[in-house]
Amino acid sequence: MNKNFRDIRTPFYYYDTALLQATLDAVRCEISQYPDYHVHYALKANANPRLLQIIQQAGFGADCVSGGEVQAAIDAGFPADKVVYAGVGKSDREILTALKHDIFCFNVESIPELQVINELANKEGKVARVCLRINPDVEAHTHTHIITGMAENKFGIALHDMMHVVELANELPNISFEGLHFHIGSQITNMQDYVALCQRINEIQFMLNKQGIYPLVINVGGGLGIDYHAPEEHPIANFKAYFHVFEQHLHLRPEQSLHFELGRSIVAQCGSLITQVLYVKQTATKQFAIVDAGMTELIRPALYQAKHKIVNLTSRSDTQAKYDVVGPICESSDVFDKDVLLPFTQRGDILAIRSAGAYGEVMASTYNCRTLVTSYTDKEVVLS
Ligand code: LLP
Repeated sequence: MNKNFRDIRTPFYYYDTALLQATLDAVRCEISQYPDYHVHYALKANANPRLLQIIQQAGFGADCVSGGEVQAAIDAGFPADKVVYAGVGKSDREILTALKHDIFCFNVESIPELQVINELANKEGKVARVCLRINPDVEAHTHTHIITGMAENKFGIALHDMMHVVELANELPNISFEGLHFHIGSQITNMQDYVALCQRINEIQFMLNKQGIYPLVINVGGGLGIDYHAPEEHPIANFKAYFHVFEQHLHLRPEQSLHFELGRSIVAQCGSLITQVLYVKQTATKQFAIVDAGMTELIRPALYQAKHKIVNLTSRSDTQAKYDVVGPICESSDVFDKDVLLPFTQRGDILAIRSAGAYGEVMASTYNCRTLVTSYTDKEVVLS
């Protein structure tokens, strides 16, 4: 029996699994035209076991950035041969976890890391499959905190070192060089950024081929953006346009496979943070709606000045007013948004902060000794 949201202690995350399923179906429908395309869901966006279960059952692979995520993917039933693992600072223990499970591929970010994986694989009597994460020096037009593919970023192997590292990977006995990995950033809505990435990969492949090196795997990472302003109008990202860019602009040889690591675009729109208004406070210049969720539940506005649509689920008022919607945490940056136009709002009203399924629950903390946020799905709770 589904509970009414009014009867549940706030704050909590609410996941619309029907929308998640529809999103997964849309991705599957698009890539069904491209037999060599493979999508690995980026667990960093949301590792809630109930969502992982659904995504795994839809046949997706997993993209991980820690030993914990590799384990979570395996526990959720993702086949190890569809698991990829990136990260600039993989510890020995994390590498051993991935070796134990015989994952599809390590995305390796430096020479010392490559050498350590070789040594550990040798000790375990294994050969580690490896893609080299190349920093393509391609700019993504997004928030500076989530740009990853510029020369000044810590990620990946610099272009001018690439040839040397490929040679080393080919020499190391417990490394099998499979191909190349890239990721230029997140919340990318300008498809030209992906066109630029494709062109850079074409140049790189041309260079490698001239030296007799033929990577089998090309992994272009993730980053496809979603519509935070109008989530109701665009609940599903434009996967058609996204995959089409690669089909049009990336030159692949027939034996090559193309891999994607989508996170946000899979889970963002299916999640809302549900919170209750504790107080409405009027000052000389402002009206604050102080809610019981804060940056401990959703840190994106404080960390990236991100804007999430906020709606009042319970007010029946016809009059509207502007509110700064703020949390209870002792930090001035604990603000969800300023001057939000809402119907007349009062203590006890329930607000939904939309598009919070990606990098929401998974980035939650217990700062201020708060309880870690819980979650429900549409199978447990009715939101209307
Ligand atoms: N692959 C790699 C190597 C990544 O670093 C990331 C995200 C992804 C794939 C997935 O990207 P997506 O499809 O989700 O854009 N916390 C930030 C986003 C950080 C993204 C980190 N890397 C936010 O809330 O906007």
